[in-house]
Amino acid sequence: MTASNDRDERLDMLIGRVEAKGYLPPPAEDWKRALRAVPRHQFVPDRAWVLADEAHPAHAIDKAARPDEWWEAVYLDTPIIIQADDGATDHTTGQGTASSSLSALSGVLYNFGFVDLDEGHRVLEIGTGTGYTAALTARIVGKAGEVVSVEVDAALATQAGENLAAAVPGRGAPTVIVGDGADGYAHAAPFDRVHATCSVQSIPYAWIEQCRPGGRIVTPYGEWFGHGLIAQVDVMPDGSGLGRFPGTSGYMHLRSQRPVDGHAAAWSSAGARVGQTRVNPRTIAYAPPAADLVITHLAPGVTARRPADALWLFDGSDPDCWAVATYAEFDDAFEVHQHGRRDLWDEAVEAYFQWQHFGRPGLDRFGLTVTRGGGELWIDRPGNPIMLQAAGRETTPLPAPSRAAVG
Ligand SMILES: C[S@@+](CC[C@H](N)C(=O)[O-])C[C@H]1O[C@@H](n2cnc3c(N)ncnc32)[C@H](O)[C@@H]1O
Repeated sequence: MTASNDRDERLDMLIGRVEAKGYLPPPAEDWKRALRAVPRHQFVPDRAWVLADEAHPAHAIDKAARPDEWWEAVYLDTPIIIQADDGATDHTTGQGTASSSLSALSGVLYNFGFVDLDEGHRVLEIGTGTGYTAALTARIVGKAGEVVSVEVDAALATQAGENLAAAVPGRGAPTVIVGDGADGYAHAAPFDRVHATCSVQSIPYAWIEQCRPGGRIVTPYGEWFGHGLIAQVDVMPDGSGLGRFPGTSGYMHLRSQRPVDGHAAAWSSAGARVGQTRVNPRTIAYAPPAADLVITHLAPGVTARRPADALWLFDGSDPDCWAVATYAEFDDAFEVHQHGRRDLWDEAVEAYFQWQHFGRPGLDRFGLTVTRGGGELWIDRPGNPIMLQAAGRETTPLPAPSRAAVG
């Protein structure tokens, strides 16, 4: 078997796997053609970090040193990290926070299923990364369409431009713009679709404004607290966006909408308010996606971290503001430390029980209206906003002196 046959065979196996998982968008034959026409290997850097899948642990790839392993990685259905900490950390070590990747193909196609591309569409993509999704988009919209992709990182954008020039030569090739995707790209508006491949906490109004009425914005959404969702927002003639949450997804954040960072365990608990709760921290930590959505909305900016024995909460805009609820087996009550200007644990618990009071609705009962003034989350119908109605604080203060310090 020649090397190129081998590649075709591997690609066919990958396509077969994503099709079996049900992730190939309709019309499936068009997408299979696009996947075969876009040479995936041209978007994989020579050296990178491959995340684990069912059969392989996470590992570095190096095309020059271990070509067979590199070629195998090209056709795995798993993310390939191409940058960490905005380039400050060597991404081939697996260290740091991934800041750009070639996403797993099944996730890419799952999201494309909500974008609903058609021939001739003008598409604004946010987050060029390697350029792979822009290339697939260009294949689907064809020469009558147009693809503009915005990447915040200049070095990534340059490399993506080279990848695209090799993979989609000539007319119909996507245009790569270096800039903040939150601003969209007004010069090429109006678009039929805006497709973000990084996640947002709030949908920039520029995306709505630059999309024609009847057009659609699809973006990973609301990942700070828990499950990330897919927001699918259609543009109305009055210039507002009307959205639903048809799925879940996990993506890296738009740079300007990243949650607070820092290692909480190193933070001093001096000045923390100490209390106890009868609510098991795991009930809040592992709530279903619709409860996470309500918590995200009623406790704005709250971010979570979930080690096995605790739920840590942070305020995305205020590093001084955090809470930790500690889980211990066989305990009837659990200790809570809350620090800073907000009682984040209390807020999250109230929001969780508000979701219970709504009757534990699923994601399909929620929607989002986006206007120039911001976003409003609603239940069942636009104009019926989510508000705190029935909850109350559950934590009771512990008597002084406070218990052992955290961290
Ligand atoms: C998951 S990667 C995108 C994968 C890409 N679509 C591909 O096919 O390789 C997310 C990308 O979003 C980019 N990004 C983050 N914040 C951005 C912003 N404000 N504007 C534009 N791009 C941004 C990151 O630099 C990163 O390259």
